[in-house]
Parts: sequence; C-alpha cells; structure tokens
Amino acid sequence: MKRPIAMFAGTGHAVPRRALTNDEFAAMGIETSDEWIRERTGIRQRYIAGDGETLTSLVTEASRQAMADAGVHAGELDAIILGTVSPDRLMPATAVEVQAALGASRAVAFDLGAACSGWLYSAQVAEGLLATGQYETVLVIGGEVLSRIVNWKDRNTCVLFGDGAGATIVRRSTKGRGILSAYMRSDGNLADLLHRPKGGGCFPMNDAVLAEGSHYIQMSGREVFKHAVRSMADASDRALDGAKLSGTDIDLMIPHQANIRIIEATAKHANIPMEKVFVNVDRFGNTSAASIPIALDEARRQGRIVDGSTVLFAAFGAGFTWGSMVVRF
Ligand code: ACO
Repeated sequence: MKRPIAMFAGTGHAVPRRALTNDEFAAMGIETSDEWIRERTGIRQRYIAGDGETLTSLVTEASRQAMADAGVHAGELDAIILGTVSPDRLMPATAVEVQAALGASRAVAFDLGAACSGWLYSAQVAEGLLATGQYETVLVIGGEVLSRIVNWKDRNTCVLFGDGAGATIVRRSTKGRGILSAYMRSDGNLADLLHRPKGGGCFPMNDAVLAEGSHYIQMSGREVFKHAVRSMADASDRALDGAKLSGTDIDLMIPHQANIRIIEATAKHANIPMEKVFVNVDRFGNTSAASIPIALDEARRQGRIVDGSTVLFAAFGAGFTWGSMVVRF
C-alpha cells in the first residue's frame, strides 16, 4: 500500500505536579550527585506521580489536549492504543480505563507493551488499522508511571526514569502529509538486560520476591547503552532510506529521550546537527513510551514543527525493541 496513509492531527502531554531534582536524591539516602547524573545522562529533573496521580489520569489529560488540538470528540474515536509497561492494574488494560474516562464508547482500546518503543510501535499499528479502511480516527498514546516500578534504593535505575504521558491523534493522510516510512524491530534474546525479573506469571509475587525487590526494573546499563546507540543508528538509516531522504533533508529529529549521549551519537550517525535535534531529557528524564510523544507535543507548541516539516523519530527500549519513522507534517 502506498504511503502516506496516516498523519498526526493533534498532540498533547501531561506530567505529574511534582518535579524531583537531582539534588533531592541525597536527602533520600541515595549515594549519587547532580554532577554524576548530569554528566552521564543529561538529566536535571524528572516528574514523579504523587497521591491521586495515576497512569489513567495522566493519559486522560494528555488525550483531552490532543483531541482538542485535532478538533476530535470522544465519540469519533475508533481505537485507543496505549504504549505502556507500567499499567495501573495488571488486568484489565489501562487503555480501557482511559476509554471510560473519555467516554469514547465506540473505540476499541488496548495496551501495547514495547517499553520505550511503545508509542512508535503504537503509531505504526494505528497506521495499519487505518489501511484496512475500517478505522478513521485513532488515539495513540505513550504513557508511563515508572516511579511505581523502579527500586528507589537502586541508584543504577532510580535516577534515570520519570513519569508522564504524550498523546497523538492519528487520522487519514491529506495533502501528502503523514508517515512517509516506518520501521520496527525486536530481539527477545536480549530480554534479560532490561527487565522486571519476578512478580509475573513465571515467578508470581510472594514474600521472597517482595523482600529481594526482584519485581522492580533491573538494567545492565552499559550493555543497554551500546545496543541503544547501535540500534537507533540503524533504525534512523532504515527510515531515511524508506523515505528516500538523507539526514540533511530532516528539519527536526525527535529521538527517544533516555540519555543525552545516546541522542548525540544517534544524531551524529544520521548526519543531523544537534540544533535540529529536540532534547528535553534534562527536564523529564526517561519517560519510556511517553518520551517521544511528549517531545513531539513540545516541539509543535514551540513552533519547531510547522506545516511541511520533515521529522525523523527513533526509539529503543526493553525487549529489546526499536524502530523509527519519517513523518511529513
Ligand atoms: N550515581 C553515582 N554513581 C552511579 C550511579 C548513580 N546514580 N549509578 C551507577 N553509578 C556508578 C556505578 O555503580 C559504577 O560504579 P563502579 O565502577 O564502582 O561499579 C559507576 O557509576 C560507573 O557505572 P557505568 O555503568 O560504567 O556508567 P555509565 O557511564 O555506563 O553510565 C548509565 C551509566 C547512565 C546508566 C549508562 O550506562 C546508560 O545511560 N545506559 C543506558 C540506560 C538507558 O538509557 N536505559 C534505558 C534505555 S531503554 C529504555 O529507555 C527503557
């Protein structure tokens, strides 16, 4: 089928009220420093969900903004796809709770688990739904409340992640706008490098799991870093090739916001100068599936994406999962 089929008609984002700065970790008894975190990751602060803030509440807020931006009301939504690995409940999907909160009674709603690639995968699934001709308007969201599944005693991980949600409305392409090329990959052989070892079906939650904290996220940081750089570079090449473009044709790159050094390496490989790369990892930390749609919404609202802009997206996450898209706005 010939692209573009699907375009982004609206965006929105939401984060919790509370910003947690690097300096606050010391007061929490965590042996780290603002300098270490900034130098290794580029992160200065991240938002952390408090009482009454849930994945459903953040996603619903982001979705309302995206719907208002696109001029779409809840009854028009045909599908809701939520990229997340930190659902409010293990069952049912958080997407159905969002459906109920929005009053989107016609929509089919489901979660998609691809970690930091969650929004990018979801957007490509939405494109597939549109291609069937049965769906017109899809709400595609990336949202996480990772603060509830990180070990706040593990400095290797707890300083990296943040909470938030980014929402997009995907509709049929008009005037040649939309997804020009798209790419997705996974490699389950590397699953153990970034995972929650226990607390699922294989090792159900019990007192021992709770005591050892093996239900929290665990990560081999250095290994993940190497694979992220390699895979995001390759994914960028694939999307550019698919769109028959090169880095110099790109107006803005929006990479997954995990670490400034990964972002810089990916941009350099794609031959895109840092002035054309959107960075907000300093303010949000790594919000996993939410990172790209939050950045997309900020970029649009700041006027860094205008009609006709060509944008390259690239993501990498647990699984491993990775992928990319080139989109004309
Ligand atoms: N504060 C102070 N010291 C720390 C901290 C911390 N928060 N965390 C780890 N250290 C220590 C380590 O214990 C280690 O000490 P040791 O040498 O005595 O053992 C030392 O710092 C160096 O650790 P390295 O792992 O070599 O540090 P590195 O330069 O690789 O940076 C980091 C670590 C930031 C985690 C990096 O590996 C990284 O960014 N990896 C990718 C992580 C990532 O992006 N994950 C998510 C991608 S996928 C997704 O988004 C789901």
